[in-house]
Formats: sequence, structure tokens, C-alpha cells
Amino acid sequence: MSTVVGTKGEERLDYTKAESRAIRRRSMRLLASLIRPMRWLIVLTGVVIVASTIMQVIAPALIAWGIDTALPAVLKRADWMPTFGVVIVYIVVGIGGAALIGWYAVLAAKLTQAIMLDLRKRIFLHTQKLSLEFHESYTSGRIISRQTSDLDSIRELLDGGLNQLVSGVLYAGFTFIMLFLVDWQSGLVLVAAGIPLFFLMRWFFARSQTVFRETRVVSAKVIVKFVETMTGIRAVKAFRTEDTNDVEFQRLAGDHRDANRKVFRLFGTFDPALMAIAAATLGVVVLVGGLRVSSGAIEVGALLAAVLYVRNFFGPLQDVAMFMNSFQSATAALEKVSGVLEEEPTVPDPTKPIDLWEARGHLRFDDVTFGYADDRIILPDFSLEIPAGQTVALVGTTGAGKSTLAKLVSRFYDPSEGAVTLDGVDLRSMHPKDLRRAIVMVTQEAYLFSGTIADNIALGKPEATLGEIEAAARAVGADAFIRALPDGYDTDVNKRGGRVSAGQRQLISFARAFLADPAVLILDEATASLDMPSERQIQNALETLLADRTAIIIAHRLSTVAIADRVLVMEHGRIIEDDAPAALIAGTGKFAQLHRAWRETLV
Ligand SMILES: Nc1ncnc2c1ncn2[C@@H]1O[C@H](COP(=O)(O)OP(=O)(O)OP(=O)(O)O)[C@@H](O)[C@H]1O
Ligand SMILES: [Mg+2]
Repeated sequence: MSTVVGTKGEERLDYTKAESRAIRRRSMRLLASLIRPMRWLIVLTGVVIVASTIMQVIAPALIAWGIDTALPAVLKRADWMPTFGVVIVYIVVGIGGAALIGWYAVLAAKLTQAIMLDLRKRIFLHTQKLSLEFHESYTSGRIISRQTSDLDSIRELLDGGLNQLVSGVLYAGFTFIMLFLVDWQSGLVLVAAGIPLFFLMRWFFARSQTVFRETRVVSAKVIVKFVETMTGIRAVKAFRTEDTNDVEFQRLAGDHRDANRKVFRLFGTFDPALMAIAAATLGVVVLVGGLRVSSGAIEVGALLAAVLYVRNFFGPLQDVAMFMNSFQSATAALEKVSGVLEEEPTVPDPTKPIDLWEARGHLRFDDVTFGYADDRIILPDFSLEIPAGQTVALVGTTGAGKSTLAKLVSRFYDPSEGAVTLDGVDLRSMHPKDLRRAIVMVTQEAYLFSGTIADNIALGKPEATLGEIEAAARAVGADAFIRALPDGYDTDVNKRGGRVSAGQRQLISFARAFLADPAVLILDEATASLDMPSERQIQNALETLLADRTAIIIAHRLSTVAIADRVLVMEHGRIIEDDAPAALIAGTGKFAQLHRAWRETLV
């Protein structure tokens, strides 16, 4: 079984062969697309590393030649020339090799950083582009790990692991060849040592797969528990769940420790076994070589070189083993990242966008059918016409489909059948820029971004002047409290003193919408955080905000409904009542009942 990761990014163990293959192909495609622009840099890096390895590997052979040829020349004929020669070559090769290693380090870092930059940008741009549907199911915690820990694993592989593997394998390979050139009999001893080595490596790779995966899964659980607890800290404190969280977290942290212990135990077995094989091989080489030296079959220098080569051969194997860990986590990371990058926006931009320069705000639902999932339809065969400039209040029980309707008008989702049109243009073919300018939705969560209050209002119109920003704030009744803040419009929303209440945040988002000046404005529960005493003020603010545009107000507060031209009562995805507020109140329908009940709570 191999570790593979699905589109949604969780590590699962039960993929079918076909799914695993598809996921692997997906990662390979991503890898290829990252590497393609770098191919010449990769070729150059490869040439440099091969050259530098050859230079490193030559050294023992030079020593052998020095002992067997140059030294006798000095002793027998007082001829220093070969010695000078070999020393000069040794120095040149040494310095050359060192310089090449330096160059290689620079090239490898350049390569890694270029790939990381590319990948980092891609993940951000792509996740930002993905539709709301994706973000509603893919938690922010998981998106954060894509951009942080997954990128880190990939960087670790490129920076450390891959370097170690490539240089380790090259080094071992060239060493092996040189050993055969210098003394093939010692080479045969090394080949024999390959048998236990093969079994050791096979055991290590199989075992490490399991152990390393366990550490990843457990550490992901620890992170999720931590993030969930801290994100929900208000609920944790309100319901006093600290103690159960403590127990749970300690258990997970314990699992984490146990998984890591297994890793250490794994290396605790592998490292000594590798050393034992290396020691035994060296022992045999020295023994056999010593016998051959005494019988004159081989020079002592050649034996020394052979011993050095055998010892050097085992050195990088430990690095190769370390590489397994970074290789596996990087593969898992690449699989998760490629899953996100291959997600398509479910609300795609039109191929032939239609421009709508001056939207009037005439909205229509033509036989729209919509459901979040295929098996559960929320809006069945829905038709509705809202003339330009009308203010519509949408009321109905929880789960009736009001927010869903709003999301279709904002084109956060597309209908599965039928069409939503603005001034006769299907939203699906409207230019995204025109769509965003024409239709704005304000929701209950009025998010404030880092920056000043003025920056946050200007979100609706980035080129707005301070005068325009202040005028927008005045229009919705936000000016007074903003001026009372420590730095007025320049107050940093993240600083103490810049912290505003939920209702004030709501007013800021009204100012944002007023400044954006869309033809269609949707307020989904946007008045929920505003308190009762400012009711009159809210009415005034809303009247200013809604004047001269098409508006859909979704509100549980019935007083807000009074300013509407028309009320729609929604139930199970259908409009069951549709009239002017006064007419509905006078009648006997659902809205009249709601209104009576509400009036009674007021007295
Ligand atoms: N992102 C989603 N994925 C799947 N189903 C959803 C999603 N959002 C809403 N639903 C379902 O669609 C139905 C309508 O939800 P919607 O949010 O439109 O109700 P609502 O009328 O706005 O209710 P409320 O007054 O509570 O805000 C609900 O049954 C809900 O379970
Ligand atoms: Mg809702």
C-alpha cells in the first residue's frame, strides 16, 4: 500500500490502484510543469555535480600512485619529479573540486528558490481564484498547510534530501568504478557485501514507509486539534471544555512522541547494521589485500586506495536513508498541492465575456433549479422578476433558501438549470469586472482587513479620495464613531483602540457598499448586529444606501422590511407570498402572522 492523497488533501490509506495512479500522474504533471522552465539550469547543475564528484573520487587513486610510483622514485633514484607532479595534481583536483562544490551549492539553491517561488505564487493565485464552493468545503486550516508545511516539505527535499541523494549516489557509483579500476579483487568483496546490504536496505525502505507515514498522520492530528481549539476558543471557554481538550491533546501528543520514538528505533537498528556490514567488508578487504601484498600480487598503495574506496562507499548510504523521510513527505505534499492546483473553479469566467457598462439593475430568475449537491435541490424551478430600482425584502424560515438565492445573484454559484440575468444578460457570460461592479453582497460577517478604517472602506472603490470615503461613511451614519476613534479614519484596525464592535464593523461594510455604488445591492442578515436603540438611525442609513438601486434585503428583523417596496416570503425554496408590505400585513397569510407575533413582542 502506498501513501496517496486525494483532491481534498487528506491522507488516506484506502485508494484503489487506479486512483493512486491518477494521483501520481497528477503530481508528476505538476513536477514536470515546475521543472520545464528550469531545464537548462538543471542540466548545468547536473554537469557541475558530476564533475565535482569525479574530482573528489580521484583523490585515493592519486595517493595510491604517489605511494607506489612516486615514492619509490624518490627512494631509489632521488627523482622528485613524479612526487611534485602528483602533489600538484592533487592540489589542483582538490581546489577544483572544492570550487565546483561551491558552484553547485549556489546553482542548487537558485533552482530550489525558483521552483519554490513559482509554486508559492501558483498556490496563492489558484486558491484565491477557486469558487466559493471549494472554500466552503476545504477548511482554512488545510489551505494554510498547503501554503506552509507542504511547501516546507518540498523545499526540504529540494534543498537537502535531493542534493544528498544525487551526490550520494554519484559518489558511491564513481567510487565503485574507481575501486574496480584500482583493484578489482577488492571490488568483488564489495559486490559480495552487496547481498546483506540489499536486504538491509529493503527492510529499511519498507519499514520507514510505515513509520514515517505514521509520524505525518499523527502530527497532522496534533496540529488540527490545536488549530480547532484555538479558533473556537470562545466556545471552548463558554462551555468549559478545557479539561476534555487537555486529555485529548495529551493523548495526541503522546501518540506523536511514540511515533517519533519508532523513527529513532528504526535508525537505531539501521545505522549499526550498516556500520557492521561496512566494518566486516573492510576487514575482509584488508585481510585478503594484506595476504596479496605479502605475496607481491598488489602494491601497498593500491591496497590503501582500495580500503579508502570501500570506506567511502558506505559513507553516503546513511544520507540516502535519511533522504527517504524527506522524499516521502515531499511526495505526499506534492500530491496534496497538485490536488488543489488541479481543482477547477466551479464558476468559470466566460470565454466570450459580454460587457455591461451601465447596469440598470433589472434582475430575473428564469426557471432556475439549484442544489449544492445533485441529490438535494434547494431551489426547484424558480422564477422571479425584480424590476430595476425596486427594494425587495426576503423573509422566511431558517433554511428556506434565502442566502442561496443571494449567492446565485452574486454568482458565487451557478444554477444547474435555467439562468439568472441582469438587464437581460446571463450572469455566466457577463464580464467578471462588470459583474462585480454591478452586484455587491454585504453579509453578516463584515470582514476587516489589516490596514486603516479608510483603507477598509475604500475596498469598494480603491481609487476613492478621502473626501469620498468620508462622504460614504456619513451617508450610512458611520462618520460619528469613526471620528471618535484614536486616529479617526487613519486608525489601524488591528491595533488596540482600533478594535470596533460588530455593529460598527457592519456600518463600515455599509460604507464600503455605498462607495462601490452597485446597481444591485444584497444585504444578507447585514443588519443583525445593529442594536435596537439605533433602529431609527439604521432605517435612515438603509434608506440612503438603497436609494436608486435594486436591493434585496434578507432580514429577520421585521422593522427593516417596512422600507421595502415589496416583500417575498420564502418557504422550502419557493416564494409563497409576494406583495407590498402593507398589503401582506393586512392579509391573513404567513407574513401577517409573523408580523402580528412580532408586534406583540414590542409591547
Ligand atoms: N454550502 C452549502 N452546502 C450544502 N448545502 C447548503 C450550503 N449552504 C446551505 N445549504 C443548504 O441549503 C438550504 C438553504 O440554505 P440557506 O442558507 O439558503 O437558508 P437561509 O434561508 O438563508 O436560512 P437562514 O435564515 O438560516 O440564513 C439549507 O437546507 C442548507 O442545509
Ligand atoms: Mg441565510
